[in-house]
Amino acid sequence: MFRCLKVYWKFTYKCASGLDFKLLTKMRIDIITVLPELLQSPFSHSMMKRAQDRGLLEVYTHNLRDFTPYKHGQVDDYQFGGGAGMVMMPEPLANVLEHLKKERDYDEVIYMTPDGAVFDQKTANILSLKQNLIVICGHYKGIDERIREHFVTKEISIGDYVLSGGELAAAVIVDAVGRLIPGVLNDETSALMDSFQDGLLAPPVYTRPADFRGWAVPEVLLSGDPKKVDTWRHEESIKRTAERRPGLLDS
Ligand code: ADE
Repeated sequence: MFRCLKVYWKFTYKCASGLDFKLLTKMRIDIITVLPELLQSPFSHSMMKRAQDRGLLEVYTHNLRDFTPYKHGQVDDYQFGGGAGMVMMPEPLANVLEHLKKERDYDEVIYMTPDGAVFDQKTANILSLKQNLIVICGHYKGIDERIREHFVTKEISIGDYVLSGGELAAAVIVDAVGRLIPGVLNDETSALMDSFQDGLLAPPVYTRPADFRGWAVPEVLLSGDPKKVDTWRHEESIKRTAERRPGLLDS
């Protein structure tokens, strides 16, 4: 998978470097939320802003309350069988999902939930090749199971802890996926050199000055010999991975 992605990236980055962005596919992400305000800032700066300014990424938020047939914008209710905590009702969710799906085909309908598959770089790589994604942000006790059964195609957790809602988790995956869209990063190699891309953590990095308070940059990085630098970086990646995440080396 990573090998194919590398070839695809190299090709599309070539297109991007010729500034012919028309050749690049655009990704559209529709996020369903009860707190659209929470999702404004994460996509208005830095790389996510650049991706949108370049027409490579479109992110839309949809307020679930706009799709409820119930009074006062109600979107949640008590759970059948009793117990604490509210559940997000199926009807507003079905309404917004059907409204979006009428407009275009979606590759995935993703539900952000702590009991989903744990998000990783491989999933980010795969999602970065998609064109249209829907992301549902859960709240309270979660969404009615029937929506999971009949609409959701992928369930993602960003880690084994519980957030108060899926919005921050959605922001994490949009960022991780969005930066991989060819043309978003300026430097073709930087996504390929990320931690986890080859199953290893990234090596240490240094910048000027070469000597800071008597702490010197490793000699090899100043050698001007790219082969030696590559070998050193690879060795450092392995060393760092063995020390910090030995499990990655097993797989
Ligand atoms: N919603 C609440 N907690 C979450 C988590 N850990 N990952 C994804 N969505 C969530």
